[in-house]
Amino acid sequence: MNVSMKEHWNEIYEALDVDELTWYEEIPEPSIKLLAKCHINKDESILDVGAGASTFIDHLIDQGFKNIIAADISEIALNKLKERLGKEKASSVRWIVDDITRPEHIQNLKDIAVWHDRAVLHFLLEENEQRMYLSTLKKVIKKGGYVIIAAFSLKGAKKCSGLDVKNYDQNMLANFLGNDFRLLEYLDHTYHMPSGEPRPYIYALFQKI
Ligand SMILES: C[S@@+](CC[C@H](N)C(=O)[O-])C[C@H]1O[C@@H](n2cnc3c(N)ncnc32)[C@H](O)[C@@H]1O
Repeated sequence: MNVSMKEHWNEIYEALDVDELTWYEEIPEPSIKLLAKCHINKDESILDVGAGASTFIDHLIDQGFKNIIAADISEIALNKLKERLGKEKASSVRWIVDDITRPEHIQNLKDIAVWHDRAVLHFLLEENEQRMYLSTLKKVIKKGGYVIIAAFSLKGAKKCSGLDVKNYDQNMLANFLGNDFRLLEYLDHTYHMPSGEPRPYIYALFQKI
């Protein structure tokens, strides 16, 4: 576990209400749209990597998905999400506090049908961190499974939450995932922060061949 990163994210989640976060979405529309293209069954597993306190989890529960896994380095983030969901809904989710760059638990998952990452990969600047992310993804995802990645686009911000980011386009994401994954669809999405400022993202949907 990268303790300083854990502390960094915990401090942010402690300091701000969820709807003040500079990545808060009331309705995670692009993720919902791409998930709909996956046509998976309600009992197939969806892993939200770096879920934070994302409303994507609320959406998945409301849509009737039964095998939802929310993983994040920050237990404060996940606790906020649990609180918002309430006991009954929260108990239907599997919660994992883990660091995707040094995973101790995530890599033990298997047969993941959808790997969803909004705004996590772009924080991984070191090659060894990216390599670990990718090897974990490849290990847990099932054949024919889907990967949805959203990252700051090439026109996007160079920093977030005080951290440098790596900007991506769909080809960079495709190169990152490699030949075992087919790019099915991508979209540019301009997210507006609570301040109203625009933040361009690239969203891409892949399928494991
Ligand atoms: C910008 S937020 C996005 C949160 C969520 N995906 C969303 O769209 O609302 C980035 C999230 O990644 C988590 N995170 C950052 N580095 C991580 C790591 N190495 N392993 C797991 N989670 C990480 C942070 O705690 C934070 O919740």
